[in-house]
Amino acid sequence: MAAKPKASPTAAPQLPKGDTRWFVRDRFGMFIHWGLYSQGARHEWLMNNENIPVEDYEKRYFKRFDPDLYNPELWAAAAANAGMKYFVVTAKHHEGFCLWNSKYTDYKAPNTAAKRDLLKPMVKAFREHGVRAGVYYSLLDWHHPDFVIDNRIGPYRGKTDAERAALNKGRRMERYAEYMRNQVTELLTNYGDIDVLWFDFSYPPEKDKAGDFTLGKGRMAWESEKLYALVRKLRPDIIVDNRLDLPGAWDIMTPEQCQPREWVTHEGQKVVWEACQTFSGSWGYHRDESSWRSTDELVRTLVDCVSKGGNLLMNVGPTGRGEFDARALDRLQGIGEWMKRHNRSIYGCTAAPADIPVPENCRLTWNPETKRLYVHVFAWPFSHIHLDNLADKVEYAQLLNDASELRPMGGWHAGQITNKANTLSLNLPAQKPNVAVPVIELFMK
Ligand code: GLC
Repeated sequence: MAAKPKASPTAAPQLPKGDTRWFVRDRFGMFIHWGLYSQGARHEWLMNNENIPVEDYEKRYFKRFDPDLYNPELWAAAAANAGMKYFVVTAKHHEGFCLWNSKYTDYKAPNTAAKRDLLKPMVKAFREHGVRAGVYYSLLDWHHPDFVIDNRIGPYRGKTDAERAALNKGRRMERYAEYMRNQVTELLTNYGDIDVLWFDFSYPPEKDKAGDFTLGKGRMAWESEKLYALVRKLRPDIIVDNRLDLPGAWDIMTPEQCQPREWVTHEGQKVVWEACQTFSGSWGYHRDESSWRSTDELVRTLVDCVSKGGNLLMNVGPTGRGEFDARALDRLQGIGEWMKRHNRSIYGCTAAPADIPVPENCRLTWNPETKRLYVHVFAWPFSHIHLDNLADKVEYAQLLNDASELRPMGGWHAGQITNKANTLSLNLPAQKPNVAVPVIELFMK
């Protein structure tokens, strides 16, 4: 009998994992940051940034939350038209306010002018548009009376140690951890098939001080082991992000506000990953931000993710009245125009095989099932594109937007340049096709 291999003592525990098969096929999702902070309209962290005490925050925003224009059908249609296949909404962000009708708090949408659970109709509308539902749940909670105040983050972080100690009297982190388990249970049992659970985030103190929650919070504060076990018990296949500060307790890595340079790895292994990005910098609705990215840039970001084997979760911050603002709708519409004609280079695609060189200013994606290679041309070259190593592999080439054939460069043109033996050079139209990112579809032999 063969001896059982011994688990290395340093290896992460073998925790159960979710099912990411749909995720790596669908590639493109919508993040939604919506809460009381949408009314501040100057960053979802304003409670922290401006040190706003709980009572003031309640008085200003909880009392006045009135999303009278909220129509999740419009949101879902905008996401589906943009080609997004799943969405993740902040059921609760760091401010502690809950969009759903939680039994465990009064700080929730039904107790505002909205007078109802806002999550239920949202997941319903998105699902009706064929978009899977996920929830974001903040581990931090700047409102909960048992959340131990620390010196790092939150509206009271600047207090003196003595002031903080006074504020922390009677607060019990274990009761808060139980509150989280109760709320997560609600979210995973009362809202149908939730496919993604996005916990955010951990900031543990130094190792030897792990139990001192006034210095930061990680797996001990959240009781991450219990929380993760609960999630797996309720929904074994759900996809969990990597912010619980618990080794092995995640399905996806989640770089935010920056683009990975290559396929994301963990301990040397390629992993399933999803970049999350904003249109303009803030996640919550920000009225005055002028750093909005163009549709073309956003499409390039999506392509860049897939070319490195990853997903993109693109964020929208609806207004306090419950609408996507004109800038967001414009970008979503523009992305949708592109996706309508090019989604074949995104869905079901991944990084191209390593032996195919990436042409100048391009990104490659590859569909292993259809055996088609997609060349995304970020800067339109003059008259020809040169694809090394591909001459003997490609059967047919076309522009994806209009299925117009691209023929090999021939005759006297070819005689003027030095080319490698197996390079496929294609004639291109002089003008860049009128799309955000032109794509060449290559049918392989
Ligand atoms: C951060 C921020 C937050 C945002 C999130 C999205 O960790 O705290 O405001 O929700 O990233 O990834």
